[in-house]
Amino acid sequence: MQFALRITTWQAAHGRHALPWQNTRDPYRIWLSEIMLQQTQVATVIPYYERFLARFPTVQALAAATQEEVMPYWAGLGYYARARNLHRCAQEIVAQWQGAFPPDAEHIATLPGIGPSTAAAIAAFAYGERSPIMDGNVKRVFARHFGVEGDPTRREVEQRLWALAHAQVEAVPALDMQAYTQGLMDLGATLCTRGKPDCGRCPVAETCTARAEGRQQELPTPKARKTVPERTTAMLVLLHEGRVLLTQRPQSGIWGGLWTLPECDADSDPRAAVAALGLRATSQVELAAFSHTFTHFRLHVRPWLIEVEAGTLQEAAQPQAWVDSAGLAAQALPAPVRKLLDGLVAAGLTEPQAEFALK
Ligand code: ADE
Repeated sequence: MQFALRITTWQAAHGRHALPWQNTRDPYRIWLSEIMLQQTQVATVIPYYERFLARFPTVQALAAATQEEVMPYWAGLGYYARARNLHRCAQEIVAQWQGAFPPDAEHIATLPGIGPSTAAAIAAFAYGERSPIMDGNVKRVFARHFGVEGDPTRREVEQRLWALAHAQVEAVPALDMQAYTQGLMDLGATLCTRGKPDCGRCPVAETCTARAEGRQQELPTPKARKTVPERTTAMLVLLHEGRVLLTQRPQSGIWGGLWTLPECDADSDPRAAVAALGLRATSQVELAAFSHTFTHFRLHVRPWLIEVEAGTLQEAAQPQAWVDSAGLAAQALPAPVRKLLDGLVAAGLTEPQAEFALK
């Protein structure tokens, strides 16, 4: 049986049939639901949808309202550009389409806030138009079933998916477009989910490429993660009689103005950095490395615990201070430095008599 027919047969038996925007051909009601459902889940949308329609039952009522009257009915749904576009769209329908929704997906897609997939869904539900949808969930279903490689948000991949979507509709002359469109949405939302697809109950499992190859977790191909620059640094926990040396960062740059640990090049011998501060290391232990992600880069930290003899601390460009465990507790520190020092304090290493193993 063709792909599309297996979807409609499955939808009739196992799909959703009682959602408040089903069982209507009113394009206004269908449009409103599709916009609300763009970034929000069904269960959240339902009460908003009903309140909104009770207050604005027609496109004319919505167009006649002001933006300020509309927004409270959207408050809490998020992505407020959707509500502003919705209101503009209603005014455009009244002003340019004599209050009637445009007659096909192509013209619906010219309205504010309506992309090609949403336009196709509205036309399929309201008019039975043979216009396929290709939203995020349907991309996942198609990428898996037809083994489409590549990030589906990339243009050429998206075009292959659209071509496949058209081919499925064309393969079935008298396709029930309402059932097919709803069936694809239901399949994507309930069985062919991102994390744990329920292939045992899927009506198209037999012909599914991802299932045959056991590649459900690899398809669709995830978005290439932007490679973030990486940096490595050594942080020096210089300990003298239970006090730790802190230094204040320059105002500009990362952790601007915060107190933190002295650092040195990760590949250099930390004793040289200690000597440059006018101190002498009596023992040193390398601690467990950790990483911290900033907005624009990832920092790998090699921390060293170094006991130093009393010496003459060199004046530095930035303020420096020996801080005891009470002082450390009171100090505002960057999160990873806080975590590192709290661990050392908890281990008793900032007690004046503490000894630690030599490496
Ligand atoms: N998400 C987008 N459109 C939907 C619809 N018509 N039913 C359920 N979920 C949807």
